[in-house]
Amino acid sequence: MALESIRYRRGSLSVLNQRLLPERLRYERVDGAERAWEAINGMEVRGAPAIALVACLSLALELAAGAGADAGDGTGGGGDGEAGAGVAALEAFVEQRLRFLLSARPTAVNLSREAERLRERLRGWSRSPGITAPELRERIIEHIEGLLAKDREDNESIGTHGARHILSRVPAGAAVTVLTHCNTGSLATAGYGTALGIVRALHAQARLRRVLCTETRPYNQGSRLTAFELLHDRIPVTLIADSAAAAAMREHGVDAVVVGADRVAANGDTANKIGTFQLAVAARHHRVPFYVAAPSSSCDPALASGDQIPIEERPGQELTHLQGLCLAPPGIDVWNPAFDVTPHDLITGGIVTEWGVVPPGDLGRALADRAAGGQ
Ligand code: MRU
Repeated sequence: MALESIRYRRGSLSVLNQRLLPERLRYERVDGAERAWEAINGMEVRGAPAIALVACLSLALELAAGAGADAGDGTGGGGDGEAGAGVAALEAFVEQRLRFLLSARPTAVNLSREAERLRERLRGWSRSPGITAPELRERIIEHIEGLLAKDREDNESIGTHGARHILSRVPAGAAVTVLTHCNTGSLATAGYGTALGIVRALHAQARLRRVLCTETRPYNQGSRLTAFELLHDRIPVTLIADSAAAAAMREHGVDAVVVGADRVAANGDTANKIGTFQLAVAARHHRVPFYVAAPSSSCDPALASGDQIPIEERPGQELTHLQGLCLAPPGIDVWNPAFDVTPHDLITGGIVTEWGVVPPGDLGRALADRAAGGQ
């Protein structure tokens, strides 16, 4: 059975505490937005899609428990008095919770895109003539619950498109070696994964020779999570130190580097886990195609370039300490950005979305076309 990072049914949410992996497999209950914020900020849950899902589901949980009903559960639809007040109170509550949840981590854009989509829907629903607050509440919950299946479907499409593109560049029937960074699999999403979705699709077609997975210092999402996830799913994987990546490209015949994304700007510049940029530089040197696997919800059409992406800096202790063990002299000055930006011209394979593989230079137009078509 595949690993699940998120377990949800109406009224109940728990997350796999990824800080304890690979030693312990422990699910923790999330009883609302405050606990979800803590789990996201403290990286018990991480990965751009999983962050968005857990945040939104925590809101659904609160709504299912009746939160946001302070001003009564009357009728909305632009109605007046007490009746409209129930709908207005619910809207205000959702807005307040979204703002709070959005403050947990700044770089991944998925949550703010989902928040924007929810606000838009909410505006439409609350104007429907005669809508009551309980009806509105139910629509919001159902909308959020639908995100889980959508994320998994998008990942499967990314897997199919990415695998096809990579295989189109190698001799017919050849198996490929892929290098990946951080964790982009079931643990980072609702299931299947983005970059690891491509790996899974290659493996399912018996066209994957091996995955090289970087340890991904400083927080070791590669060695603690990706290595664990791939071993669990019996996918052939070799763990390498981050500093071995260029040598691996020279000596292991890497056919593609495939990474995920926390935010892709309109020009294709991509923020992803720190160390991604240097992998892209090494890939260019070795003429290895470099792919970013990102659902459209990880793309930010509002940002013209990667210069505008906010980059989270994490506490220095995540670099100086490893599972409580001190690796650096006390008092040392530390710079610990969680992400870096890979310029679009280094993304030589393409950006793999659920719609297909897009050259980075075409991403802005592709996003605008989809938005114009209402998708
Ligand atoms: O700090 P993290 O572990 O949340 O960083 C995760 C990454 O950088 C992933 O590559 C990205 O979120 C994509 S996950 C499908």
